[in-house]
Amino acid sequence: MKHKLEIKNLHVAIDSKTILKGINLVVETGEIHALMGPNGNGKSTLLMAIMGHPKYEITKGDILLDGKSILDLPVDERSREGLFLALQNPQTIQGVSNLEFLKYIVNAHSQEKQKLPKIFADIKSAAKDLNFDVSMLKRSVNDGFSGGEKKKNEILQMKLLNPKFTLIDEIDSGLDVDALEIVSQNLNSETKAAIGMVIVSHYDRFFNKIQPTHAHVIIDGKIVISGGSDIIDKINKEGYSWAKS
Ligand SMILES: Nc1ncnc2c1ncn2[C@@H]1O[C@H](COP(=O)(O)OP(=O)(O)O)[C@@H](O)[C@H]1O
Ligand SMILES: [Mg+2]
Repeated sequence: MKHKLEIKNLHVAIDSKTILKGINLVVETGEIHALMGPNGNGKSTLLMAIMGHPKYEITKGDILLDGKSILDLPVDERSREGLFLALQNPQTIQGVSNLEFLKYIVNAHSQEKQKLPKIFADIKSAAKDLNFDVSMLKRSVNDGFSGGEKKKNEILQMKLLNPKFTLIDEIDSGLDVDALEIVSQNLNSETKAAIGMVIVSHYDRFFNKIQPTHAHVIIDGKIVISGGSDIIDKINKEGYSWAKS
């Protein structure tokens, strides 16, 4: 079944400073949207606002999932409705083992409580796909994880939750070449499973592996250019100056 995420004339403020100034974006399942733009222009703000971070105040506009506004839903309900955000800087949670955490989020997303052996088998299988060492499951969430391990842990969560839409914020930063390959493969197999994606990255080596269907450039809180993946090539060759004028 196809799903649709619609961002309509979205204005977002942080501490009463307006950051997003009228974003329009439609993403359907099966599509991969590359979101680019110079630093500090609102890419992360857009993803945080879609996910419902309370610090990001929607001052105008709407976010619709399959035609229904989700603005009144808190983060956990948006998550259960099928939105997922892989963070640019995932937090450490001391004292909570990664395995417990993963078990918890799987149960929080299931109608009925799932049997433990089934959850563990799913976690192990997803970890194996990511070449993520099972010893990482016993440690506290992200505690002492390398940059790349933290990013893999985000994708591990995504694989377990089967979202309709996944928002990915600079997941490729901090990944070595092998990890980048593995994460890309995992993202590609998930899109074949008809997830819609919005991916923030600066690098064509990542986009080359993921092959976005659409690309957008955000400058000063607005999408100034939208089109196909040729935009990514142009930015890599020429930078953003042409997009600013
Ligand atoms: N928590 C915050 N408090 C105040 N300003 C913020 C906060 N987060 C982001 N900003 C500001 O919002 C603007 C957009 O930031 P961001 O969305 O993170 O940009 P990008 O992801 O495109 O690099 C920047 O000017 C940044 O300083
Ligand atoms: Mg950012």
